Amino acid sequence: MTTMAIFKDKKILITGGTGSFGRTFAKKLLTESECHKLIIFSRDEWKQWEMQNSDPVFSDPRVRYFLGDVRDESRLMRAFHEIDIIVHAAALKQVPAAEYNPSEFINTNVLGAMNIINAAINCGVKKVIALSTDKAVNPINLYGATKLCSDKLFIAGNAYVGARGYPIFSVVRYGNVLASRGSIIPLWRKQIAEGAKEVPVTDVRMTRFWITVDQAAEFVAKAFSLARGGEIFVPKIPSMKIIDLAKAIAPDMPITTVGIRAGEKLHELMIGEEDARHTLEFDDHYIIVPEIFMNRPPLLEKFLAGREGKAPPEGFAYTSDTNEQWLSVEELQQLVGSI
Ligand SMILES: NC(=O)c1ccc[n+]([C@@H]2O[C@H](COP(=O)([O-])OP(=O)(O)OC[C@H]3O[C@@H](n4cnc5c(N)ncnc54)[C@H](OP(=O)(O)O)[C@@H]3O)[C@@H](O)[C@H]2O)c1
Repeated sequence: MTTMAIFKDKKILITGGTGSFGRTFAKKLLTESECHKLIIFSRDEWKQWEMQNSDPVFSDPRVRYFLGDVRDESRLMRAFHEIDIIVHAAALKQVPAAEYNPSEFINTNVLGAMNIINAAINCGVKKVIALSTDKAVNPINLYGATKLCSDKLFIAGNAYVGARGYPIFSVVRYGNVLASRGSIIPLWRKQIAEGAKEVPVTDVRMTRFWITVDQAAEFVAKAFSLARGGEIFVPKIPSMKIIDLAKAIAPDMPITTVGIRAGEKLHELMIGEEDARHTLEFDDHYIIVPEIFMNRPPLLEKFLAGREGKAPPEGFAYTSDTNEQWLSVEELQQLVGSI
């Protein structure tokens, strides 16, 4: 069975369907699955129009463009009618904007998550996967803190589904998608096109995880086939030094250090040492097991049944600076060239 077989004949909704992830996942569903219906749920009519007209695949008769705000539970209830599967990708995500507008981020990323969970339970949706970020682990900025709350809400949501046993709620957590909206690659390209003489790097020691939006979409599709509820799925992905990325983008330009922005970390953390104690390692991913299962043997047994994962070594943490996989400047050049 292929990863995409799980979507056959299903009615699927993507919150934030017009975003970088949403479009990629929507295209994957429309071209690689036999889904029955796909709803793109987001606020801005212009982005929906632009998406629909950007690629013939987005005019597929299976697609509906549904305007709505995740802050509005009654609108979510309307949208989730007869939906089988939801990918929750809607979020506010710019770190500096979160520091200045915390209540807006809490309303969308935290209260929005609560609304999705309530509406999914009330409408009898079968599976929900919410997207998380490495910034949610030991967060130092408000964006990360709201995503941590969202993760906790989705994992806890499994306790409220009752004897019916669905929806199941799981989370997929990954690192920076470097070519996505508002990320560093488009910013550097713009600065270079406008005649910049130096590439501004925050700190030469800085490291980040690297994932492409296609890899993220593939991993989310796979997570749907593995999900039983309560998992935080984390893909094994390479790290890179920000300075190597700058060299890949502009090999002949000098680099200037501009200092770490408020709320930024030097290195990112995908699985902290505390979470690693209840994490399972598989060939190409990790699953963080809900901590609450650890002292409830029947729940843990059900969660682990048939899963072959092993415990990571004592003291393990999955961090961008101690990662085993690294991208060289040459590999980054190839990857950046293809974006
Ligand atoms: N990009 C990354 O580097 C990265 C890394 C790890 C995890 N993630 C997570 O992945 C998810 C998707 O990120 P992305 O890069 O695709 O973001 P994006 O390109 O900024 O897209 C965000 C989407 O959410 C919608 N949205 C925002 N507020 C909304 C609201 N209140 N109600 C309904 N829709 C709303 C936006 O459309 P409208 O503005 O029209 O509503 C847009 O479609 C997010 O949860 C993010 O936290 C991203």
